[in-house]
Amino acid sequence: MGFVHSVAMKRIALLGATGSIGRQALEIIDGHPRLELVAAASGSQPIDGLAPLTQVGGDLTELLERAQPDVVLNAVVGFAGLPATLWALERGVDLALANKESLVAAGDLATAAQRRGGGRLLPVDSEHSAAYQCLEERRPEGVHSLVLTASGGPFRGRSREELTDVGPEDALAHPTWSMGPKITIDSATLMNKGLEVIEAHHLFAIPYDAIEVVVHPQSIVHGMVRFRDGALLAHAGLPDMRVPISWALTHPGREATSVPALDLTRPLSLDFEPVDVETFRCLALAREAGAAGGTAPCVLNAANEVAVGAFLEGRIGFLDIAAVVEEALARVPAEPVESLEQVLDADRRARAAAAGAGAAAA
Ligand SMILES: NC(=O)c1ccc[n+]([C@@H]2O[C@H](COP(=O)([O-])OP(=O)(O)OC[C@H]3O[C@@H](n4cnc5c(N)ncnc54)[C@H](OP(=O)(O)O)[C@@H]3O)[C@@H](O)[C@H]2O)c1
Repeated sequence: MGFVHSVAMKRIALLGATGSIGRQALEIIDGHPRLELVAAASGSQPIDGLAPLTQVGGDLTELLERAQPDVVLNAVVGFAGLPATLWALERGVDLALANKESLVAAGDLATAAQRRGGGRLLPVDSEHSAAYQCLEERRPEGVHSLVLTASGGPFRGRSREELTDVGPEDALAHPTWSMGPKITIDSATLMNKGLEVIEAHHLFAIPYDAIEVVVHPQSIVHGMVRFRDGALLAHAGLPDMRVPISWALTHPGREATSVPALDLTRPLSLDFEPVDVETFRCLALAREAGAAGGTAPCVLNAANEVAVGAFLEGRIGFLDIAAVVEEALARVPAEPVESLEQVLDADRRARAAAAGAGAAAA
């Protein structure tokens, strides 16, 4: 019986259990008899009794060592998620990855660890989940490009002048997705899309010039793949993160969820428009950092975390976020990545540079 049980069940470690993704993941796990929560972690909120093993803050790899899960769902926000990402990839443990920052900051190390470990890296980000599904089983030579959709955030259509005085409460009012504060600000600056371009580059081993971004305000089409014969495959559905969370946790099973299906009997318009990269500079900065490679994406990510924190605390303005990131990229030159220590060092130096640039902007 014990043997049958261990084959049928998926033992999940959920990191970031108190967050937006974490809470939705708990609902998916609760609703599925073959998903078993064996470990849960948060950053500071108490989670006693949520799982047989729990940990608040500290080194999350200690929890993972104790739990030995089949799947790690990394839903921690920010660079703090990196050790858990590397732990899973190195050991060949399936990784359901919401924590895009770890792949952005240490993409080369993470993909090398995955090659050694041999486990699956299943994206939870809706755009990458969509692209993964459109790409599955296709011949790479037939692929022309990936298309990531962006809602455009709460400031779509505004000019730079109109963004000078917007505050955290304006930026936190996302039109289509309900998410944690950091990613919501990243969505307003379009840095989120920039991080996703870098994430896609590493996930799918696809060159940056073959990753398109298009604004799609309804957030119904999550991602698309263009093929060289002119065909375009799109992945569509209501904007609800429980779908990509469930897809990643039950892969390759694609189990049922309680998310309503998209109603095609009602009027539905799908609009697509180009991104205004002059106003939303963060997307251009992310593309530049991605193309520079090495430690540049790590610097971009670290500076952005510092700048978003300062903006949320009212210390800098909305437009200063891009300026702080740009300044940090200029102050911390990119180097090829050879070790984790180097990434940790680049992260530290970028945070210091961003704090300095933020203080000057305040
Ligand atoms: N929300 C979405 O719809 C969405 C969509 C796509 C991708 N993502 C990605 O998913 C990740 C999580 O986003 P979210 O919106 O769920 O964020 P969130 O609501 O802010 O939740 C963050 C989670 O991370 C935990 N955490 C923070 N620092 C930690 C640390 N040092 N050690 C352990 N846990 C820590 C928090 O614990 P405490 O509560 O104790 O602070 C919380 O559980 C981000 O990388 C985001 O980009 C989110």
